[in-house]
Formats: sequence, structure tokens, C-alpha cells
Amino acid sequence: MPSKSSNQKTVKSNVSEPYKTIDCDVLIVGAGGAGMRAAIECFDRGMRVFLTCKSVMGKAHTVMAEGGIAAALGNIDPQDNWKAHFSDTIVEGQYINNWRMVEIFAKEAPERVLELERYGALFDRTPEGKIMQRPFGAHSYRRLCYVGDRTGLEMIRTLEDQILKRNIPYLDEVEISTLFRDAKSGGISGAMGIKIRTGELILFRCQAVILATGGCGKVYEVTSNSWESTGDGIALAYRAGAELMDMEMIQFHPTGMIYPAGVRGMLVTEAVRGEGGILTNIKGERFMERYDTKRKELSARDVVARAIYKEIMAGRGTKNGAVYLDITHRGAEYIKTKLPSMYAQFLEFANIDITKEKMEVAPTVHYQMGGVRVDPETGETSVRGLYAAGEVACGLHGANRLGGNSLSDILVFGRRAGIGASNYVRKESPQNKLSEEDVDEEITRILSPFKVRKGGANPFALKEKIASVMWKYVGIIRNEQELKKGLEEILEIKQEAKKVQASGPRRFNQAWADSLAVWNMVLDCEAIILSALARKESRGAHTRSDYPEKDDTRWMVNIMEKEGKNGRMIQKFVPVEKMPEEYERLLNRAEVLSWKENEAKHQAPAIKR
Ligand code: FUM
Repeated sequence: MPSKSSNQKTVKSNVSEPYKTIDCDVLIVGAGGAGMRAAIECFDRGMRVFLTCKSVMGKAHTVMAEGGIAAALGNIDPQDNWKAHFSDTIVEGQYINNWRMVEIFAKEAPERVLELERYGALFDRTPEGKIMQRPFGAHSYRRLCYVGDRTGLEMIRTLEDQILKRNIPYLDEVEISTLFRDAKSGGISGAMGIKIRTGELILFRCQAVILATGGCGKVYEVTSNSWESTGDGIALAYRAGAELMDMEMIQFHPTGMIYPAGVRGMLVTEAVRGEGGILTNIKGERFMERYDTKRKELSARDVVARAIYKEIMAGRGTKNGAVYLDITHRGAEYIKTKLPSMYAQFLEFANIDITKEKMEVAPTVHYQMGGVRVDPETGETSVRGLYAAGEVACGLHGANRLGGNSLSDILVFGRRAGIGASNYVRKESPQNKLSEEDVDEEITRILSPFKVRKGGANPFALKEKIASVMWKYVGIIRNEQELKKGLEEILEIKQEAKKVQASGPRRFNQAWADSLAVWNMVLDCEAIILSALARKESRGAHTRSDYPEKDDTRWMVNIMEKEGKNGRMIQKFVPVEKMPEEYERLLNRAEVLSWKENEAKHQAPAIKR
């Protein structure tokens, strides 16, 4: 049972709609790994924290990071260290990452993994009893700490235990529709939400919000993401006046299931390749030898995803539009021990025994590198009192995320956002006020789908339309003509969405909840496409057939997007922040390997903010 906040009451708005109020210091939107870790931090720092999520507790995209948590513990490869992790993350992120975020991340990830272990996570072990680590694409060392192929699930289970142990108040199945700001100070003053189970409206009165809503994978037809991932946090932040960054960077995971239709896009963990899985085309060629001679199947995700796509497009795919992934040579016992979920998933859904038969796989949308721009130290956005952590935030992964980096990202920056928000509330004691007019206006907006009568649009149909447009025109390989067509169609859907219709009672009204999601999805898509049109080069996950080369002379920039005065999305190109010279040397692999341990000498200068 969710814990109840002690200070809930019911109020009647000026537009004659009753709503509940919940008071807290920090509201956390999203209860995946980042949201839960942030909640723990806020609670332990004495904040009145309240946690909400759109789905049910324990169900989050975090569980789709199956193969492991990246952290340079050096348990298997003692040469590994934070500098190598820093270097891998920036090199594979194609140099547009925020270097300070990567530094914090690489240094703090090991401690967060050990903390998770102290919280009770049961990692696989080396024979001497240390946390086991496996190889993953483009990590120079065996760096992924894992629990078979259920690492994200174990993380969520462990963090949820900590939430329950502390009795942190939460409500699941709550969709936050907007954030409120104080008209004078501009600081956050609250949020409005709908409780899907009952249809009630809830006004949260708070001084800080941490967005931990994940990404927007569901704007694509084929995705590993489940129904919740509609980019709500990005839209909430944007409407509140925050800046978005590098929205064109969408990660296609190389291996998703292809059939049966109901599970198309479901993740086939990179751990299969980490454990020795081999990719072949219909001619039996180990095609990765042509795309990355050295690393082959364990090349960076963008490289492997493009390679698979190209093989399929060149007619060397299976009749189902896939390539083969084979792990049979590892033997049944090994496979069932290291990859139990994959074994069960293929057997149950596709009637394939992966200990004896090859899998068929193709790329699937998995992750969004772009998102809300945040301060690297605290997770604060460009709006006072608004914080973001995890997939909804941008800066760590640059143009291409390394597998396993998201699980450590959410622990490191979930905690930091918790510290940032707690310090802000404690030290600055903001007294931001909610405006009754803003609340009334929002209630009118969110109830508007019930007022649409004739010619209303069906939210389910709009969601499908969005996903099909994005898959068709904003895919792995893009070009100006298709992006423009995609934009045109998304803008048409945006118009239709103004008349989205919901009917019947408010309780468990999925059409109503999806109407709000559609408004968010079209906003996200517009930001993605405008950014993809602007970046006239190919970098990481963003590949343009009309601009096939990486162009460092013009495009070492982060693309910012923000709401302009007339409601239009405006863009700004900001040069990537330069890292200290001694860190630049880390990007040279020979340097990384020879760099002597001397933290004092190599400490990066503190940043003035
Ligand atoms: O393939 C995987 O297990 C996914 C991991 C990740 O996205 O970090």
C-alpha cells in the first residue's frame, strides 16, 4: 500500500472542480532508478519528499538495462580505472558530452555500485567473492557489474526496499500534467497531476521538483520501451521554461526481438554479445568483421546498430527483416546461468531454444541521449527549483551512450539531484507561491478532452500515427527531405491533438491519460526533428545520408531548444564546453594506459557557477 502523506486535503477550484492537495518540500516525478535514488537522498537529508510515478511502483525502463552497471571497479581487469571509463564515455559519445558530468560519473560510479550492494543487491560473484564484471560494447575493460541478465530489475527491487524501509510517501499511477512557477521569483511552486485509478485531480505544493521520468522511446514504433515512456518530463520541463539539449540523439539498440509481432522491439540484451554472441547475415558472414575489425560485435552501439541496418537494407537479412545472433557455442548450462531471462524470453514468446538455435534480431529504439539541460554538479535545470536526473536529463552520454552507463548514471545523478534539491530548499528557503489562476487554467486544460464533442481525435490513433511517422522519417539513417516530411506530419498531428477526445467517467480512463501523453509526445517529436534537421553532419547515433561525415569544424556544439516568446521553439548552438588539457590527454588511449595515478596533480579545476 502506498504511504499516505499526512497533509492531504480536498479543495474546490474556481472552475468548480475539486482537487486534493499534497504538501511537500521536494516532489519527485518518476520512480525508476533515478527517482528512487533521489527520493532516498532527499529523505535522508530530512526533506519532506513525495514520490510519484505514472506506472505502478517497480515498473520502469530501468529494468530494460539488463546486462549490467558500468563502474570501473577493476575486479576482473585491475588496469581499469575512472580515467579509462571517462575516456571511453567521451570518445564513444563523440566528444559532445559535458566533460564535468562524465568526470563526476566515472569517479562516483564505483561507490554507488558498492552502496547498492550495501542496500542489498545480490550481484554475481568472482570465485574470490568480488562483484563479477563482464565485457560490453566499446568499454575498454570488463566493467559491467551484473546480476545475470536482470541487473536493472535487481536495482529497482533493491531501491524499492529502501523506499519502503524509510516509509517514503508515494503515489503510483499518477500522471503529472504541468509544473507551476512563482510569477515573481520564477521558482518552482508546485505541480498538477491526475490520479489515474480514481480520476481525481491532485495539486502538489512544493518548492522543488526532480524530474526522473525517463525518455520518449514510445514515440517510435519499434522500441524496447514500454507504454510509460512518452517523454513527459521533457515536455514538462520545456513548458516550464527549461532548456532542452541534443534532442536529435536517439539510441537504437542493435538487438531487439523481431517476432512474434506482439514483442517486436523487445530488448535482447547486449550481454548476449558480451558473453560471446556472434552476429551473422543470411549468407553466414560474420559481418561485424567488416564494420569494426577489432571489436566486432562489441563495437559501440551506434556502429553495430547501423551495421545491422545496412546488412538488412542490402538484402542480406532474414525474411523477417533481421540478422542472426548466435550464442549456442556457449552450451546450455552456461547460457541458462548467465542469460536466464533471454533463454526464457525466446522460449516463451518465439518458441526458440537459444541454447540450440540462433536468435533473429534487429535494431530497436532504446534510449534518448538528449533531454533537459542540467548543471553537472546538482542536476538543476535552467529553472530555479527544477532538477532532472537519468534519461530525461542530458549531458553525460553525448551522441552515443555506452551500454551499462545508464544504470550508473541514474545512481550517481539521482543522488546528486537529491542533494541539489535538498540544499536548495534548506539553504535558500524559497517561499514560492502558487497562483490560483494558473491552477484553474491547468484544470481547464487537462479536462478539455472531455469537452470535445464532434470531430474529436482518438488519442490511441494519434499515438500510433506519431510512432509510425517517427519510425518512417526519423530513423537510424536520416536525410533532409524525410526529416522535413516527418516534421510536416508531426505538426499536422499537433493540430489534431488540440481536439483530442476522451469520454466516459474519469476513473481509469486511459483515453484521458493518453490525451495528455499525446500533447507531450508531439512536443518531443518536434524538438527531435528540428534538432536533427539542424545538425548537418553525422555523429554518433545521428546519421545523415546527406551529410555522411562528422564535421568537427562546425558541429562541436550542443543544440539547445527553448520556448520562445511567441510559443515557437527556438534553437541555440552552444560550443561544447572545453575540458582541461590534462583531461584531453586522457582521450588518447595510450595516455590513459600510461597515466600515473596522481589525483592531486590531475585534479580538474573547480567550476565557477
Ligand atoms: O543490453 C542491455 O542490457 C542494455 C543495457 C543498457 O542499455 O544500459
